[in-house]
Amino acid sequence: MFENLQALPEDPILGLMAAFRADPAPVKIDLGVGVYKDEHGKTPVLAAVRAAEAAVLAEQQTKTYLGPAGNEQFNALMSQLILGDKHTALTSGRVRALQAPGGCGALRLGAELLTTTGSRPTIHVSDPTWANHVPLLSGAGLKLERYPYFDTRSGTVRFDAMLERLNTLPAGDVVLLHGCCHNPTGADLSLAQWRQIADVLLQRRLIPYVDLAYQGLGEGITEDSEGTRLIAATVPEALIAVSCSKNFGLYRERVGLLMVLAGNETQAVASASHLRKIARGIYSMPPDHGAAIVARILSDAKLSNDWRNEVNAMRERMMTLRRALSKALAATCTAEMAAAVDQQRGMFSTLAVTPEAADTLREKHHIYMTRDGRINIAGISLESVDYIARAIGSVVGR
Ligand SMILES: Cc1ncc(COP(=O)(O)O)c(C=O)c1O
Repeated sequence: MFENLQALPEDPILGLMAAFRADPAPVKIDLGVGVYKDEHGKTPVLAAVRAAEAAVLAEQQTKTYLGPAGNEQFNALMSQLILGDKHTALTSGRVRALQAPGGCGALRLGAELLTTTGSRPTIHVSDPTWANHVPLLSGAGLKLERYPYFDTRSGTVRFDAMLERLNTLPAGDVVLLHGCCHNPTGADLSLAQWRQIADVLLQRRLIPYVDLAYQGLGEGITEDSEGTRLIAATVPEALIAVSCSKNFGLYRERVGLLMVLAGNETQAVASASHLRKIARGIYSMPPDHGAAIVARILSDAKLSNDWRNEVNAMRERMMTLRRALSKALAATCTAEMAAAVDQQRGMFSTLAVTPEAADTLREKHHIYMTRDGRINIAGISLESVDYIARAIGSVVGR
C-alpha cells in the first residue's frame, strides 16, 4: 500500500529553518519562523508560566481523564479573557467553549462542526492568509475561497475590495477573520472597519469564524479582542478559534480553545455536544498540562498580573523593533514600505519583496524570510536593524 506514496517536498518554513541552521555565515538573521524571540534570540518560558507550572505539579492529585471538552475552568476563564466577563454573548448562555490542541486543533474542530451541520458551506479566507489555514479548513471538507485583503505595494488593507466581496456572498457562507495581528501581513482592521464588517455579516447572514492567535501582541490584551467582541455582540452565530501558543509562550504544550456562539442556549448546548463527539473521534481529549497552566495563571491575581506584564513587554519590544526597522527602511527603501511597517501590528509584516529578492536576501545577505516577503519582527534586533534595512534596500530600491 505505502508503495503508492511519493515523498512530499519539505514544508517551506521547516526548509527555511534547516537552511538557516546549516548556513555557516558569521552574521545570519532568521526572520522566518513565527515564534517570539527575546533580545538574545531565545524563545523564553514566561516567568508566570514557570510559577504556574510549579504550582500545578505540586498540587496535582491525579492524571485521570478530563474528557473531550478538556479543562472547564480553562474554558471559562479564557472565554472571559477574550470576550470580557459581562459580554452579552456569555451572560445569555449562547456561548460554549471547548479546550483544543492548540489554535490549529481549534480551527479544525470548528471546520468539522461546520461540515457536521449538513450545509457544507464555503469558507472565505483573506488573500493572503496563514498558509496552514488551507489544509486545516479544507481538510475538513469545506470549500475554500479567498477575498481580497492586502495591497502589497502600500502594505495596507484593501478594505473597499474586501467589503465589496463580502457583499456578494450567499447567506450561510463562512468568513474567516484574523482577530488581530494578521498573519502574514500585520495589516489589521480598525475598530470602525470591524463594525462595518460585522454589519455586512449580519445583513447577509454570513457566519464569522475568528482566528485569534496573537491576543496581546498587537495593541493590548483587551484591545486585540475588541473586533472579536464586536462581532460576538452583533451576529447570532459565530466561531472563535483561539491559540495560547504565542501569548502564553506555550507553543509545544498545544493549548487552544474553540468557542461557538449560537442563536440560543439550546443550540449552543447542541453544538457543544457535537464538538465533543468530533474531538472524541479525532484525538479523544486534549492534553492537560498547558491548559492547567493557563487556568492557574488566569485564576490567580498575582500570576495574572505577572503574565499581563510579560505579554505587554513582548508587545512593546516588538513595537520598538518595528519603529526602528521603519526608520531604517525610510533611508533605504520606499516611504510606503517604511510607513506600512510602522502601522502594521503583531509579529509579522509582509514586505513588497519578490520571491527572487527573498532568495537574494538569503543567499547574499544571510537574511532568512519566507518567499512571500513575510518577516518575523521579533527576529530583528536593534544591532541588526540597519544591516537588514540596507540589504532590503539593495534588492528593492527606493
Ligand atoms: C494565524 C494563526 N492561527 C492559528 C495558529 C495556531 O497556532 P497553534 O496551533 O500553534 O496554537 C497560528 C500559529 O502560527 C497562526 O499564526
